[in-house]
Amino acid sequence: MCFRVTAMKNFDEELKRRADEAQEIVLDFLPKAGRFDRELVEAMNYSVGVGGKRLRPLLMMSFNRLYKGDGNCVRPFMAVMEMLHTYSLVHDDLPAIDNDDYRRGEYTTHRRFGEAAAILAGDGLLHQAYETALKAFGLCGDREAVIRALLIFGDRTGINGMLGGQAADVMNTSKNIDDELMYFIYEKKTGALIEGSMMIGAALAGASDGDLEIIRKIGADIGLAFQIRDDILDLTGDESVIGKPLYSDERNNKKTYVSVNGLDKARKYVETLSSEACGLLEGLGRDDGEREFVRELFMYLCSRDK
Ligand code: IPE
Ligand code: IPE
Ligand code: MG
Ligand code: MG
Ligand code: MG
Repeated sequence: MCFRVTAMKNFDEELKRRADEAQEIVLDFLPKAGRFDRELVEAMNYSVGVGGKRLRPLLMMSFNRLYKGDGNCVRPFMAVMEMLHTYSLVHDDLPAIDNDDYRRGEYTTHRRFGEAAAILAGDGLLHQAYETALKAFGLCGDREAVIRALLIFGDRTGINGMLGGQAADVMNTSKNIDDELMYFIYEKKTGALIEGSMMIGAALAGASDGDLEIIRKIGADIGLAFQIRDDILDLTGDESVIGKPLYSDERNNKKTYVSVNGLDKARKYVETLSSEACGLLEGLGRDDGEREFVRELFMYLCSRDK
């Protein structure tokens, strides 16, 4: 676990306040329904509106603050990343992929609106993410920073990032994959968006390329720890708290870090990864108070119940 000098006062309230702020920002950039696209827009906005931890925009905002960003440039990108993440979940839950009925405590999009609408809603969120990112050129005075953020976004979300990992996961379902492929899947399907969120936040506030490389490593550690925690919760969580069905991995015949190494080893590895991330964080950025918040956020993410 991260070394705690003193526990940050009011972390829980601050986390809730920031998650609500992130949610407002995301909702601001969603489309409004017109006469003939009502069903599509409802399905898109449903999946984003039902909740979620807003972890990726929270991380992006924190890394932006760590480098004393002014907030204008990061706001659209917070929405962009949450839209992209939500599209990945809408498609992940489809009958052809994980076939899950609940997400964020409510019916999944395909259970609520039908499979065709869920496919289109996922597509819609992906497009909306890029349209929103392009709007950042008009909202943020720093064109170079927006280009830097867009390059990270494209790389960490496409075939070299989330989509590549999700495809390797889906296409190797039920196969006895080796450890190298398992780590590849974790690093890409989950780690890439977490890395990208931290990197974009920092890049928009002018962090150097050297710092971005350290941040990428921090993101990789936290991403891997986050996915292993997700696998632990898939077996030990409380469905009413995590808001999605238990035993999805077992039902889909997935080889996971937990199925190979057991729960104890998995819990220890999550702690090791989070300590490593906290070590790398030392001395990074310009705002000591924000660094303390990030440390608390890492602890929360690696020990969360939902
Ligand atoms: C779920 O992500 C998918 C994984 C990568 C494990 P989150 O656990 O962040 O889901 P939400 O956004 O809070 O619903
Ligand atoms: C999904 O991983 C990661 C994505 C790229 C969507 P999981 O399939 O383990 O995520 P959950 O458990 O359904 O949230
Ligand atoms: Mg899946
Ligand atoms: Mg799933
Ligand atoms: Mg899972």
